[in-house]
Parts: sequence; structure tokens; C-alpha cells
Amino acid sequence: MSVLVKSVLFLSMFTLAWASRTDVYITNSLEGKEDLHIHCKSKDDDLGPHVLHINETFKFSFRANIFYGTLFFCSFQWGNGPLLYFDVYDQKRDQNKCDQCKCDECKWSIKKDGPCRFEPQRDCSLVRKCYEWNH
Ligand SMILES: *[C@@H]1O[C@H](CO)[C@@H](O)[C@H](O)[C@H]1NC(C)=O
Repeated sequence: MSVLVKSVLFLSMFTLAWASRTDVYITNSLEGKEDLHIHCKSKDDDLGPHVLHINETFKFSFRANIFYGTLFFCSFQWGNGPLLYFDVYDQKRDQNKCDQCKCDECKWSIKKDGPCRFEPQRDCSLVRKCYEWNH
């Protein structure tokens, strides 16, 4: 094998080994129990439209690409309301939050004011944090 082929093989294995799987959960927690219409995408993937009844969860999984910032964003809509947007996975924001902690970093509860989740602190305790919709 040429040095180039060996290098490419090595890099591929390295990438696969280091890009661990991430699971993202999106749960309808709307206060008025409306159906939640969601549609999530990344640069490369379109996960299609989904309707979540109250307390139902949509889950998807991916391997973050170590060579660029993986970003999954979704639209959210209920009732006669507008389309709202949020980045449910932003590699810059979310990577390495859970290195030493087992945590629920990617389990979103969708409320009318925005998505909430539990985030690990330095001591690995979980604190609930809510975000605003994208502007
Ligand atoms: C949704 O889940 C919450 C929290 O577990 C529960 O209190 C509520 O009764 C559930 N609502 C419905 C409509 O199932």
C-alpha cells in the first residue's frame, strides 16, 4: 500500500473512532397540549416533517463530524402560530459538555417560550436551562 492510501485509511479509522454517536430527543411539552409540528435538518440531512402529540418524543441520532461544526436546526409550529426555529444540536455549543458526566444534554422539552434541557455542571449535577427561539 502506498503511503497515501495508508494515511487515508488511518485518517478514516481515526475519524470513525472519534466521532461518537449523539442522540437528540425532542419532546412536546407545550403548556396548552397542542400538537407540535417539527421539521429538522442539517446541511446534509433532511429528517422530514413530524407531528408530536403532547408528551411525545422525536429522536434522531448522528455522528458529529470532527472536521466541521455539525449543526441540526428545526422549525417548530403549533396552533395558528408562526414557524419558530432553534438549533437543537450545535457542535460548538454542545460538544464535550458531557465528557465526564452522564447527562441528558440533548433531551429537549419544547415549551412555548423556547426549548429547555438539563445541563451538567462542573460537578456533574444537572441544572435545567431554557433557551430562546432563534431570532
Ligand atoms: C405529560 O407529562 C407530564 C409530566 O410527566 C404529566 O404531568 C402530564 O399529565 C402529561 N400530559 C398528558 C396529556 O399526558
